[in-house]
Amino acid sequence: MKQQLVDKFAELFGDAEGVSTYFAPGRVNLIGEHTDYNGGHVFPCALTIGTYAAARKRNDRTINFYSINQSGKGLITTSLDDLTPSDAAGWTNYPKGVVWAFIGRGLEIPTGFDMVIGGDIPAGSGLSSSASLEVLTGFVLRDLYGLHDVTNIDLALIGQYSENNYNGMNCGIMDQFASAMGKKDNAILLDCATLEYEYAPIALKDAKIVVTNSKVKHSLVDSAYNERRAFCEKALEELQTRVNVKTLGDLTEEEFEANKDAIGDEVRMRRARHAVYENRRTIRAVEALKKGDVAEFGKLMNQSHVSLRDDYESSCPECDVLAEEAWKIDGVIGSRITGGGFGGCTVSIVRDDAIDVFKERITAAYKEKCSLTPEFYVVSIGDGPYKD
Ligand code: GLA
Repeated sequence: MKQQLVDKFAELFGDAEGVSTYFAPGRVNLIGEHTDYNGGHVFPCALTIGTYAAARKRNDRTINFYSINQSGKGLITTSLDDLTPSDAAGWTNYPKGVVWAFIGRGLEIPTGFDMVIGGDIPAGSGLSSSASLEVLTGFVLRDLYGLHDVTNIDLALIGQYSENNYNGMNCGIMDQFASAMGKKDNAILLDCATLEYEYAPIALKDAKIVVTNSKVKHSLVDSAYNERRAFCEKALEELQTRVNVKTLGDLTEEEFEANKDAIGDEVRMRRARHAVYENRRTIRAVEALKKGDVAEFGKLMNQSHVSLRDDYESSCPECDVLAEEAWKIDGVIGSRITGGGFGGCTVSIVRDDAIDVFKERITAAYKEKCSLTPEFYVVSIGDGPYKD
């Protein structure tokens, strides 16, 4: 990938002298879904797949972007003097938003740059191709312009800020944080209310994390994601008439049950119930994992799926088939939809000796029930962004 980007860079811009290459990972979330913007906990890990860039500073104010994954779109050009989002800018609204957010923070970007990117995360799969592109862009800017005071947590916050305020998607911090702070062989337990985090080694002994792509593309900006978030905010306001909490993540299940009648609508009540229970489930799941109780972790993953399916209604029929078929297979420790939802992937923990059977049976059942062929990735947990 790296050489391909450098070659393309030379072809587009005359030579590749002084070009640097960079990488930022995608992520998969093991448990803790739709809890981040509700002040709860998440437990994602960075992947070894992600987005790569070859980049170099220019002497003028022009910015050129090119993606080898979207070569049909050609070179997309903008300037430091024109950083408004536009439909014509397509995918470059993500890196443009990050440049805009850097400047908005008072970070100095005195010249434009040329950047060729390429990625190996299937787009729309829910493995955070956009967050990895945002973190990658921030990482490139920090390096090109010597902005060494910007930390990796800042890169995550800037990515989220630009996605919220430039791209109109009210995402939480999980994806950008997982990409910017990833650590090989570890998942990250992140308290999204405080940004306190700890790494937890994922030593599954005789099992692997398997991601299954439903091939149903999710489109979060247009989807019900922002609506889910608004419903949770409204439910929180209603609960706050009874209990003194800052976020849904502050509530225990018991406190929620004792006060849920303050929520004046059944759908809103279920959305909030998911957020409260999922947060507690995430804390318990990580405790179980630390004790080496992978079976308990898997059970909690399954409960997470049921809650996303029934209470949050952010699954889709295809991902329900993937998870429910997985639960039937001996050797599957847990399986659930992962990420924003409404399509995308499931994540499963599968015993090594069951992986082949898992792939065969899921493929057959999915073809029969949904007329689609799934794709599988056996996950390796990687590091955060790097330059090489
Ligand atoms: C998307 C968002 C995240 C998070 C998940 C759901 O991936 O970008 O912030 O809310 O959905 O857990």
